[in-house]
Amino acid sequence: MEKIRIREISWMDWRKLAALFQGIFPELTTKEISHYIRHYEDTIAVAEASEGIVGFYQFTPRIGERTAWLNYLGVLPSHHHGGVGSQLLRDFEMRAAQMGFRQAEFDVLQQNQRAIRFYEKHGYARSHPVDNKFRYRKTLTVNVHAAGDPQPARTRPYLARVGRRVLYLMLVGLSLLFANH
Ligand SMILES: CC(C)(COP(=O)(O)OP(=O)(O)OC[C@H]1O[C@@H](n2cnc3c(N)ncnc32)[C@H](O)[C@@H]1OP(=O)(O)O)[C@@H](O)C(=O)NCCC(=O)NCCS
Repeated sequence: MEKIRIREISWMDWRKLAALFQGIFPELTTKEISHYIRHYEDTIAVAEASEGIVGFYQFTPRIGERTAWLNYLGVLPSHHHGGVGSQLLRDFEMRAAQMGFRQAEFDVLQQNQRAIRFYEKHGYARSHPVDNKFRYRKTLTVNVHAAGDPQPARTRPYLARVGRRVLYLMLVGLSLLFANH
C-alpha cells in the first residue's frame, strides 16, 4: 500500500490540482475545473505522496437527500494499483458520514470497467443506468477508525475559517457601533 497523506486543499494547491484534474479527466474544460475548485473547496481532498499530489476526490453535498454525490475521484496513472484510490474512497466515505450524509452516490461511464470493478469491490451497488452511465450508491456508516484519523489535518483550516468569520463579524459590529456615535 503506497504511503500517502490525505488532506484538504489550500490556495497553494490550486495550480497543481487544476493540472491533476486535467491529467486524469481530460474531457473537462478549464472553466469547469476552475468552477469545481472555487465552489467546492470544502469538499475536495488530495492524496499527497513524497513527490507531491497524486490523487484527489471532490463531492457535492445534496443536503435535502442527505446524499454525498461523488463527482470525481482520480489517481495519476503512474500511481494506479497502489491502494491510493481505495484510501481516497474510504476517506470520502468517512468524511461524508461524519458530515451527516446517509449515502454516497455517483454515476460511472458504462465503458469505465476499471472504475466499475473498483467501486463494486468497495461495496457500491448498481441501481439503474442513466444515459451511457450506471448509477452507484452505498449506505454510509460512521467508522472513525476506518481510514486513520483525518481530523487533525482538518482542524486547522476549519478553525481558520471560523476565526476569519468571527473576526469579520466583530469588525462589522464595531463599525456599526462607531457609525451610531
Ligand atoms: C478507479 C481509480 C480511482 C482506482 O485507483 P487506484 O489507486 O488504482 O485504486 P487501488 O489501487 O486502490 O485499487 C485498484 C486495484 O488495485 C488493486 N490493489 C490495491 N492495492 C494494491 C497493491 N498494494 N498491490 C497491487 N494491487 C493493489 C486493487 O485490488 C484493485 O484491483 P482491481 O482493479 O482488480 O479491482 C483509478 O483507476 C483512476 O483514477 N481512474 C481514472 C479516473 C476514474 O475513472 N475515476 C472514477 C470515475 S470518477
